[in-house]
Amino acid sequence: MLILAFESSCDETAAAVTLDGRTVLADEIYSQADMHAIYGGVVPEIASRNHITVISKLADSALKKAGITKKDLDAIAVTYAPGLIGALLVGVNFAKGAAQSLGIPLIPVHHIRGHIAANYIAYPELKPPFLALVISGGHSLIVDVRGYTDMRIVGTTRDDAAGECFDKAARVLGLGYPGGRPMDILAQTGDDTFYNLPRAKVDGNPYDMSFSGLKTAVVNTVHNARQKGEALDEPSLAASFAAAVSDTLVPRAMAAARELGYDNIVVAGGVAANSRIRADFEKAAARDGKKLFVPPLSLCGDNGAMIGCQAYYEYLAGVRAGSDLNAYATMEIDKALY
Ligand code: KG4
Ligand code: ZN
Repeated sequence: MLILAFESSCDETAAAVTLDGRTVLADEIYSQADMHAIYGGVVPEIASRNHITVISKLADSALKKAGITKKDLDAIAVTYAPGLIGALLVGVNFAKGAAQSLGIPLIPVHHIRGHIAANYIAYPELKPPFLALVISGGHSLIVDVRGYTDMRIVGTTRDDAAGECFDKAARVLGLGYPGGRPMDILAQTGDDTFYNLPRAKVDGNPYDMSFSGLKTAVVNTVHNARQKGEALDEPSLAASFAAAVSDTLVPRAMAAARELGYDNIVVAGGVAANSRIRADFEKAAARDGKKLFVPPLSLCGDNGAMIGCQAYYEYLAGVRAGSDLNAYATMEIDKALY
C-alpha cells in the first residue's frame, strides 16, 4: 500500500512516500528552524506561511524520489494533532485536497503516535506491546503501547517538556534555537558532576515528571554567575543538565517497563537524539535485560515517514477522515479522535 504522508505540526514541513508502512521510498523534509532562530523560538504565523509555500513542491519531489506518480497512490495521510493550529491546518487542507482529487482515502495521524512509529521503520522486528518514552519539544510521555492504535498514558510531565527545557537552557547560554543539539555538543567536554541540579519528584503518580524546577535552576545558575562576575563552566553546566534530565527520564521508563512486564523499551521524539540519554538507556536496558529501541538521528525529529508508517496501521484499524477533518492543537495520545 502506497501512502503519501504530510507533516506540518511545527517548523518542519515534510512529505514522504511509504510502502506498507515500514518501507520508506521518499522522505522530504524542509526545516524552517533558521527562520525562527532569530526570534529564539517558533513563530506560529511564520511557520504557517512557510508551510504553505513549500508543501506542494515537497509532495512533487517525494513522488519523484519514490519513482511513482500520484495515480499510483492508495491513500493520503496527514498529522492532524497535536501542534500549532495554523501550521497543522496547512497540511490538513493540502491533504484533503489531494485525497479528494485523487479519490483515495484520507488517514488522520496523531503526531506523537507517529514519533513512536519511527521505530517500526528503524526496527522491522518491532511489534507492540511495548513501553514507550516519547520526549519531544512539546511532550514528555511514558506510554503503554498495547497495540499499533491502542495506547495508554502511564506518566507525563506536570509542567515543561524535556525538549522545551533543553531549548530554554540553551537560550540562557546563548546557544540559539533549537537548543537541544548545541547543548548536547557542549556537554561532551563537560563534567556532569560539577553543578548540582535538581531531579524533581512529584507527588502521586511515580511515573509523572517535572522539569520546571530544573529549568529555573539552570537559569539561576547562569544569572548568579553573571551577576557576581564569576566564571561559568558552560560545558559542565550542559553536562550536569543533561545528566539531570536523563536521571528524570531513564529510571521512570525502566520502572514502568518492569511494572507492566515489558521486555521491549522504545524511545522516540527529538530529544531521543540526545547522546547522554541514549547512553544511559543503553546501560539501564543492559542491566535490566531489556531490549532498547531508539531511532537513528534522522528519524528522531519531525518527519513524514513516521506519519506514513503510523498511517498504515491506522488504516488497517479502519481509521479514515472525511472532508470535515479538522486540526487540533492538543489531543491526548490515548484519546485520539480517530
Ligand atoms: O520531536 P521534535 O523534532 O519536535 C516536536 O514534536 O516537538 O523535537 C524537537 C526537540 C527540540 O526541543 C530540540 O531542542 C530537541 O528536540 N532536540 C534535542 C536534541 N536534538 C533535538 N534535545 C537534546 N539533545 C539533542 N541532541
Ligand atoms: Zn515532533
